[in-house]
Amino acid sequence: ANKLGSKKERTLAMIKPDGVTKIGDIFELINTANLIVTKAKMIKLTCQAADFYMEHQSKPFFNNLVQFMSSGPVVAMELMGDEAISIWRRLLGPTDSAVARREAQESVRAQFGTDGIKNVAHGSDSVAAAARELEFFFPSTMGHGPSNTAIFTDC
Ligand code: TYD
Ligand code: MG
Repeated sequence: ANKLGSKKERTLAMIKPDGVTKIGDIFELINTANLIVTKAKMIKLTCQAADFYMEHQSKPFFNNLVQFMSSGPVVAMELMGDEAISIWRRLLGPTDSAVARREAQESVRAQFGTDGIKNVAHGSDSVAAAARELEFFFPSTMGHGPSNTAIFTDC
C-alpha cells in the first residue's frame, strides 16, 4: 500500500466480441476511472476460449460462452492503477447486462451490454485470477522455452 493506503494493481480486461465496436467509449470510461492501458492485444480466440474460462467448464452456460467468445476478435488489455482489479470490476457492472441497467446504470455492461452472455467485457476477479489471466494473454518472456505457448498454439 502507498501512503494514501491504496494498492497499485494490474488486472486483465478483455473486450468481448460484442464490445469491440464500442472500444472508444470503453477506453474513455477506463481513462476516467484513472486506469492506464499498459498492454493491449487483439486476437481471435478458438480453442483458447475454453482454456480461459476453464473454471466454468461444469456450468450449463459453458458451451454457449465458449462459442460466443470465439465468434469474433477480442481485445485483451492489461490495466494498471490503484485498486485496478476492483475498480475495473465495478466499472464493468453486474454480469447480466439487464441487471446492470437496473443496479449500475453508469457501468459498461449497463450502457453497452445485451444480456447475461453478451456483456461487453471481462475483468479478473482476484489477484490470483489477474496473474493467471495476464499470463494467459501476455506470457512472460522470462524462463525457458517458447514464450507464447497458450495463445499461439494451434487448436
Ligand atoms: P462469471 O465469471 O460468473 O461472470 P463475470 O464475467 O461477471 O465474472 O461468468 C463468466 C461469463 O459467463 C459471464 O461474463 C457471462 C457468462 N455467463 C452466462 O452466460 N450465464 C450465466 O448464468 C453466468 C453466471 C455467466
Ligand atoms: Mg468471472
